[in-house]
Amino acid sequence: MLPETPTPEPIDVPVGAPVFRHNNVHSSQAEPPVASFGLDDSSAVDAANQPEALPQSSHDVHQPVQEAQLAEEQHLEAEDSSEGDSALGSDAASVTTSLSESIYNYRQEHGRTYHAYKDGKYIFPNDEREADRLDLQNHIFRLTFGNRLFFSPLKDPRRCLDIGTGTGIWAVEFADNYPECQVTGIDLSPGQPTLVPPNLKFLIDDAEDLWLYDEPFDFIHARLMAGCFTHWANFFRRAYQNLEPGGWLEVQDYGLPVKSGDGTHLGTDLLRWGQLLCQASMKLGRPLGSECSDHYVEWMQAAGFVDIQVKVFMWPTNGWPKDPYMKEIGRWNQINILEGLEGFCLALLTRGLGWKKEEVDVFVAKVSSDLRNRRIHAYFPMPVVFGRRPIERAGLF
Ligand SMILES: C[S@@+](CC[C@H](N)C(=O)[O-])C[C@H]1O[C@@H](n2cnc3c(N)ncnc32)[C@H](O)[C@@H]1O
Repeated sequence: MLPETPTPEPIDVPVGAPVFRHNNVHSSQAEPPVASFGLDDSSAVDAANQPEALPQSSHDVHQPVQEAQLAEEQHLEAEDSSEGDSALGSDAASVTTSLSESIYNYRQEHGRTYHAYKDGKYIFPNDEREADRLDLQNHIFRLTFGNRLFFSPLKDPRRCLDIGTGTGIWAVEFADNYPECQVTGIDLSPGQPTLVPPNLKFLIDDAEDLWLYDEPFDFIHARLMAGCFTHWANFFRRAYQNLEPGGWLEVQDYGLPVKSGDGTHLGTDLLRWGQLLCQASMKLGRPLGSECSDHYVEWMQAAGFVDIQVKVFMWPTNGWPKDPYMKEIGRWNQINILEGLEGFCLALLTRGLGWKKEEVDVFVAKVSSDLRNRRIHAYFPMPVVFGRRPIERAGLF
């Protein structure tokens, strides 16, 4: 039986401006699509990252210091769609900017590049366009989580591993907040920034290979890795083996296909899109979306984790919610998905389901149209699952 998820009381905490990559250096300089945001306030970030207490008593638990609004899964009232459908207009183009060409010899397919190391494993592109999208997406996570980077009740973490670090933006922010912690970010693709905190290093590595780390970690973090692994149960076992007793694993991910509270997603290309991606990914041997993230708890339990908690957040597909906070998340997410859509579909639908590029293009256009349609009250469930390696049992393996 899982402990009940605590429901935080919302209070105001400044939300950091989005951080975008420019020539391998992270900087805050993007225009949000809607309201202007407060500048990043590191004291607020630190405070917001203080963990919540677990329901059961535990010697390694910090008490919360401050709470911010969270986008937990809930029933959302939709705004009257007669107020206008154009949530974004041309903003999408101004927020996401393609930068320099890659200097690496990546696989090139349909105008996108893919990682070269362990070619073919990961089905989303690794080009600048995707990197910019990942950094924008990091901002949506901060907004969704009330500025937190994680929910595990950490106490003075000393060694942290970020699996599938992407552009490294989470690892950079974590290392900045915990200068006493040695942080390692691993990924199949290079391209992480070189100007990083001194306590952070990036490695090109495959998380499906044996983990050959000198010392165990006291925090392992994996965000948006659904679709990346063939044997997720193995991943959880490896994470367990590479944690200190008492150390925490936290997985932050997405659900797919999209859901809605009122059935307006039924029969749409948007819903079909999620179903097709799941089907294609399964065919390629790497389950994604809810076919993966719905099993995290059982896989963690099987690996021996305890004190497992689940929090489910939501990312509306556009600005359809009436609530201004959820509307803002939806508007950011609309940019995020529109920008990523071609990349999500190309390799999966061509390699996985044998579609032609032209067929993918037509389908992407239809799904894009649904993503702009505020009469479709859809959302992505965004689950966070975290659990602890027990102290009392030194290991199951
Ligand atoms: C969706 S991105 C998420 C990036 C980052 N965690 C974030 O939240 O911004 C997934 C990342 O996992 C990496 N990846 C996929 N399979 C991997 C593997 N087997 N080992 C290491 N990294 C992997 C990809 O290269 C990509 O950068």
